[in-house]
Amino acid sequence: MALRDILVIPDPVLRKVCEPLAEVTPEMGTLFDDMLATMYDAPGIGLAAPQIGLLQRVVAIDITKDEDVDKDPMIFVNPEITWESDELADYEEGCLSIPEVFETVTRPAQVTVSYLDREGKHSSLDCDGLLAVCIQHEIDHLNGVLFIDHISKLKRDRIVKKFSKARRLAETG
Ligand code: NI
Repeated sequence: MALRDILVIPDPVLRKVCEPLAEVTPEMGTLFDDMLATMYDAPGIGLAAPQIGLLQRVVAIDITKDEDVDKDPMIFVNPEITWESDELADYEEGCLSIPEVFETVTRPAQVTVSYLDREGKHSSLDCDGLLAVCIQHEIDHLNGVLFIDHISKLKRDRIVKKFSKARRLAETG
């Protein structure tokens, strides 16, 4: 297992639309394990492949936060929302690619997701609560969408400006 570098805005890779995987091969286990390890190390509860620079439709999630609870690592390949509730829910979201920024986002409260699991088996999962928030946030990443796209333009512009300035300063040293 290896930890991968996590891209931060305004990296243009985070705005690209990812390609579906034609199939899940045993060799991809390394990528899945790397994504989970990188997510746990960050630490975070979700990570999408474009966040480590890979334009593939792969998502890692583990919403268990309590140290006493067993880990529940999940891999979603080519995840797609096949149903969403009319009921909405607010959650204060963050993102490993936008460190230390938290904003309230409104999304459908429940979704059903179809996907391939890490063995390549077709699966479907009904999600609510934090899992519903997380899977929608991560699928957004696969389409080049970030959680700040769901907040006001004024707030978003302020956040992007701050990170763009930080990057310029880092580049000019
Ligand atoms: Ni994110």
